[in-house]
Amino acid sequence: MGWAETIDRGLQSRRQADAYRQRRAIIDGNHRLLEYQGRRYINFSSNDYLGLARDPRLIAAWQQGAARYGVGSGGSGHVTGYGAEHEALERRLAGWLGYDRALLFTSGYAANQGIIGALTGTGDRILADRLSHASLLEAAVQSPAHLRRFAHNDAAALARLARPDAAGNLLAVTEGVFSMDGDSAPLPAIGRVISDAGGWLLVDDAHGFGVIGEQGRGSAWAQGIHPELLVVTFGKAAGVGGAAVLCAAPVAEYLVQFARHLIYSTALPPAQVAAIDAALSAIIQGDGLRARLGENIARFRAGAADLGYPLGQSATAIQPLLVGDNALALRLTERLRERGCWLTAIRPPTVPPGNARLRITLTAAHQRADIDRLLEALDNARRTA
Ligand SMILES: Cc1ncc(COP(=O)(O)O)c(C=O)c1O
Repeated sequence: MGWAETIDRGLQSRRQADAYRQRRAIIDGNHRLLEYQGRRYINFSSNDYLGLARDPRLIAAWQQGAARYGVGSGGSGHVTGYGAEHEALERRLAGWLGYDRALLFTSGYAANQGIIGALTGTGDRILADRLSHASLLEAAVQSPAHLRRFAHNDAAALARLARPDAAGNLLAVTEGVFSMDGDSAPLPAIGRVISDAGGWLLVDDAHGFGVIGEQGRGSAWAQGIHPELLVVTFGKAAGVGGAAVLCAAPVAEYLVQFARHLIYSTALPPAQVAAIDAALSAIIQGDGLRARLGENIARFRAGAADLGYPLGQSATAIQPLLVGDNALALRLTERLRERGCWLTAIRPPTVPPGNARLRITLTAAHQRADIDRLLEALDNARRTA
């Protein structure tokens, strides 16, 4: 089979499964109202949970950073790309979250790949929640370590796989808040199992950082645990982009030696680091934003339950409505868009087969009327899709 045929078959298989992905050139995709092909929609697909992507404080920090430092970092952090701003933000993050060290990465995807790739090797075991994000699972698959997936949020299932007597190091991997379901991991139970087995825990808190816990310190803090490796990302509640891993000092030194995504990739631009730093201040002072987000979540859940929509366990900004069938999920999103609500149908392989869903994300920027409009559109969509 030649290249042309490989490409053609791949595209056809996606089309036949109603799983063909399309990007759309959206105007203001990080705003409460976005625009597509001349029409305005209320945006229920953004991960900008606190509405910080348009916050004047962050914009000013980025602009001032660019005026002071230029627009690019100029190199890998191991060459010339790591500066005083990076160092200061790492110190601030580590102190605030109660770790020895923080290391900045250009994205959460890179952080997860870099950490798992550097830490695990032949003879080690990785036990990952089966619904972990692609960046975690792919890193685990690529690692020479032996990967087993445990049933979602099931500490007993993890315990069955975590034999303390086996040779090699053991790493458990889970998320604070699951990206497609919005539910939270039982972190104390998972942490106990893995530490009893002599292993370490990696928690990716991409969707909990900034929104959950005291001052938005995230899921681990809120649940009173201190995983050996904590990943936070800045493209969601922080409204910017980039990521950090929090860990003990020797682990940070080890990652500086061996995490390839740190070594062989251009460091975050210092102006972006300045914007992340401003985002951190906004998060720390963000109780009002978190309260508004909480009100929006409660309003949506109460309304959707009244309509008889099957709601999941999620108490977070991610509110999936399980549909099952790919084609139905696509029809529903079309109906909702006709009524001015923009949201995305999430289909396999992002979620398991038969689990297509509408992924609704709520933010602090939404107004009450926006939520009511969505509920009205959902009511209508179900009757007409
Ligand atoms: C749980 C989780 N981890 C990591 C990532 C990747 O983070 P980033 O967008 O910074 O690459 C995402 C983003 O979708 C995510 O949902």
